[in-house]
Amino acid sequence: MPMSRGVLCALAGFVLAVFSCPGPVVAGESGVASPSPVDAAPHIDAALAAPRIDAALAPYIVGAKRSGYVYALPETRAMQDDEIMNPGFAWVERGRGLWTEVEGANGKSCASCHGPVESMAGKAVSYPKWKASMNRPVTVERQINFCRVAAMKAEPWEHESPQLLAMTTLIKQQSRGLPMSMADDGPMREWIDRGKALYFARRGQLDMSCKHCHDDHPGEKLRAETLSQAHVNGFPTYRLGWQGLGSLHRRLETCYEQMRAETYPLGSDEYVALEIFLTDRGRGLPIETPSVRR
Ligand code: HEC
Ligand code: HEC
Repeated sequence: MPMSRGVLCALAGFVLAVFSCPGPVVAGESGVASPSPVDAAPHIDAALAAPRIDAALAPYIVGAKRSGYVYALPETRAMQDDEIMNPGFAWVERGRGLWTEVEGANGKSCASCHGPVESMAGKAVSYPKWKASMNRPVTVERQINFCRVAAMKAEPWEHESPQLLAMTTLIKQQSRGLPMSMADDGPMREWIDRGKALYFARRGQLDMSCKHCHDDHPGEKLRAETLSQAHVNGFPTYRLGWQGLGSLHRRLETCYEQMRAETYPLGSDEYVALEIFLTDRGRGLPIETPSVRR
């Protein structure tokens, strides 16, 4: 059944909040097969249809893809850009402390094998990455824990623990400004497709999919927030609403909650598949970690 914008607005108005709803414009048919408009026809947002886009935003726009940075308020962007003001840099500093901390039965720190953390420059752009020895893709988080367990003989860090967030932020920050360029061949294809199916699947009491907010309404207001295209290049992100830093998986959990749908465990294959699909979909956007969002 095609979902008209009126229906979406009525649903959102009833349970969530108010989209700006100018009229009964018919939004696209949902379904696993439909390509994301981010890949297909460029979506022109009213807010960004201005004759001249601010030159400072240019690095955050790749074809029809727009980073969440573009939708953020100027003061939020300014906070992200300033290393002193950006609260996410406190996690980068914590990560630096952990990098040289000796732990585990092998008596090693990350630095014992990898040297200075700058050796990680450019590494994060190819994550999630296929790891043949594990016969699965690994996120940066999982690779860190792989090294802790296999190389250091230390305990893995829990998902969303301050340590894993700090180390992930530190490692991704070493690739700040570089375009996401995950491999999309071989067994990764299957994971991209799996994530895509999840992205377009209607879920929860609102019977909505990710597409209904992030492909059909970017640039529009949902309560106090401006919907973006749901790109992943800024994670882990400092979210003012959380008063803290959070992983992509935590963001996905929040979105499923907004859909009044059941969530998956952080680090689950479902979230990894979504992460892989979204990384492929946002290919070319620069890594912004640590980004700041409302
Ligand atoms: C005993 C040596 C050793 C220690 C200690 C170690 N690693 Fe590693 N690490 C490796 C090796 C070897 C590889 C590459 C092969 C692999 O992935 O197994 C690697 C790969 C990585 C990669 C992926 C780099 C790429 O090219 O994709 C990251 C990220 C990483 N380690 C982070 C860490 C962090 C963070 C720590 C500390 C918590 C750590 N490592 C501790 C040996 C180590
Ligand atoms: C009811 C509307 C709604 C639905 C449906 C929804 N989200 Fe979101 N999502 C939001 C809001 C609001 C935000 C915060 C503002 C923004 O960046 O869009 C957000 C943010 C995000 C972000 C962070 C973007 C950034 O730059 O920080 C990602 C990634 C994301 N969503 C992915 C998803 C995925 C994947 C799904 C489906 C599982 C989904 N969302 C479903 C409302 C929604």
